[in-house]
Amino acid sequence: MHLIETRDLCYTYAGNVTALDCINFIAPRNARIAVIGSNGAGKSTLFKHFNGIFKATSGSVLIRGEPITKENIREVRKYVGLVFQYPDDQIFSPTVEQDVAFGPTNLGLDDETVHHRVHEALKIVGIEHLALRVPHHLSGGEKKRVAIAGVIAMEPQVLVLDEPTAGLDPQGVADLNAFINSLSTRYGMTVVFSTHDVALVPEIADYIYVMHKGRIVAEGTIEQVFMQPEMLKSYRLDVPVLPRLIRSLKDNGIDVTMAYTFDEVRKSLLKAFGKDL
Ligand SMILES: Nc1ncnc2c1ncn2[C@@H]1O[C@H](COP(=O)(O)OP(=O)(O)OP(=O)(O)O)[C@@H](O)[C@H]1O
Ligand SMILES: [Mg+2]
Repeated sequence: MHLIETRDLCYTYAGNVTALDCINFIAPRNARIAVIGSNGAGKSTLFKHFNGIFKATSGSVLIRGEPITKENIREVRKYVGLVFQYPDDQIFSPTVEQDVAFGPTNLGLDDETVHHRVHEALKIVGIEHLALRVPHHLSGGEKKRVAIAGVIAMEPQVLVLDEPTAGLDPQGVADLNAFINSLSTRYGMTVVFSTHDVALVPEIADYIYVMHKGRIVAEGTIEQVFMQPEMLKSYRLDVPVLPRLIRSLKDNGIDVTMAYTFDEVRKSLLKAFGKDL
C-alpha cells in the first residue's frame, strides 16, 4: 500500500483548461520525490489533490490505499501536510507564533504540546526570532519559512512542498535542503516537492517525475532521468551543472565515475586525481 497514489487522475478547471491528463503517481513510504516541470505543467494542481483541496474530474487519488471522503478528510490533512507555492495563500494569523500554532491547535493538542511543536518548527526553519512578528510584514522568504513551519508543526507523515526554495536566499536553500534530509532520515517522513531548481533535486530526492502539459512524461531515479539531457531540454528543463561537468570530463577521457551531488562529485574527482579520501 502506497502513502499516496493517483490512478489515471485527470483534472479540468472551470473554463475547460485540462491541467492534469491521466496522472499515475506513487509516493511510497520514506521516498523523497521531486516533481519537475516548466511553468503550467500541472505540479501545483497535482499537489492540491494530495490532501483533498481539489477533487479529481476523473480517475482517483488514494491515501494509504483509501479514497479521500468527507469522513476521512480531517485524517488525510493530518497525515499529508501541504505547503502551498505562495505563502500568502496559507498565512492569516496576527503573529507568526499564532499562525504556526493554528494547525496543531486544530488537531486538538494541549497547549503545552502546541507550544513545544511551534517552537521546534520555528527552530527547524530558523525563524525563532520572528515568533512575535506580523506575518504580512515579513519578506517573501521569511513568509515561506512561516508557511513551512506551520505544516511541520502538524508532524505529518508526508510533507508536500510546492516550490519550497522559490524566494529563499542561498543560505535558506542550504538550510531547507539540510532540514528536509533530516526530516526524512530522523523521522522517516516521506517528502514530495516540486521545483524548477534542478541542482537541488539530487541533493534531496531519490526519485523524479517530469511533468509537461498536464502529463507525466518521464520518471525514474536521479541517474535514469538526468541521463536524458535532450528529453529534459525538450521540456524546458536542464541537467544540473555537476553531472554535466562530470560528463564533459568523461567525454574528454578523464576516468571519473558519474556523480550527482556535491559530495559525490568531490569524491569522484579526488579519486580520479589519485587523492586519498
Ligand atoms: N484557477 C485556475 N483556473 C483555470 N486554469 C488554471 C487555474 N490554475 C491553474 N490553471 C492552469 O492549469 C495549468 C497547470 O497549472 P499549475 O499551476 O498546476 O502549473 P505548475 O506546474 O504548478 O506551474 P508553475 O511552475 O508556474 O507553478 C496551467 O495551464 C494553468 O494555466
Ligand atoms: Mg505551481
